Amino acid sequence: MKEVKIETTLEVYDSMTELPKDVQQLMQSAIKARENAYSPYSKFNVGAAILLDNEEIVSGSNQENASYPSGLCAERTAIYYAGANYPKSKMLKMALTASSQNQVTGKPIPPCGACRQAIAEYEIKQDQPIEIYFMGAEGKVVKSESLANLLPLLFESSVL
Ligand code: THU
Repeated sequence: MKEVKIETTLEVYDSMTELPKDVQQLMQSAIKARENAYSPYSKFNVGAAILLDNEEIVSGSNQENASYPSGLCAERTAIYYAGANYPKSKMLKMALTASSQNQVTGKPIPPCGACRQAIAEYEIKQDQPIEIYFMGAEGKVVKSESLANLLPLLFESSVL
């Protein structure tokens, strides 16, 4: 038996105002996108914004459905839009924010497992890391240099 240790490094910022200006702007886009969440069932609003290498920002929010599994997270709404409409552009940075209609979401909310897998696909496709920044409705922001830091042991297409 051999023990394998997996380590990851994240940066924590006390507030959005500590972020570089371009990331603050990206987070503002995510906050704006969050307002368009359609979340009558969970009452949980998520916004995602992606900065492309052509300097455009693509954003998305979670879209729910009465048939619950038919809904989609904000991250995948945004990243699939980017993949569909800007297939040749690289995705440089992604900002995420989430707020509950039931309570104050003060802690940073990381992307769910399914979204991590989806983001990882594009990181591998473009052969360049995507910086991920995530927060709640307010307060601390966590930065990961790459999606790979958030998803060790991802499922890779090389095994297919
Ligand atoms: N949600 C996201 O949009 N992103 C995540 O990473 C986690 C969850 C959405 C899906 C659903 O509409 C609501 O939040 C509650 O799960």
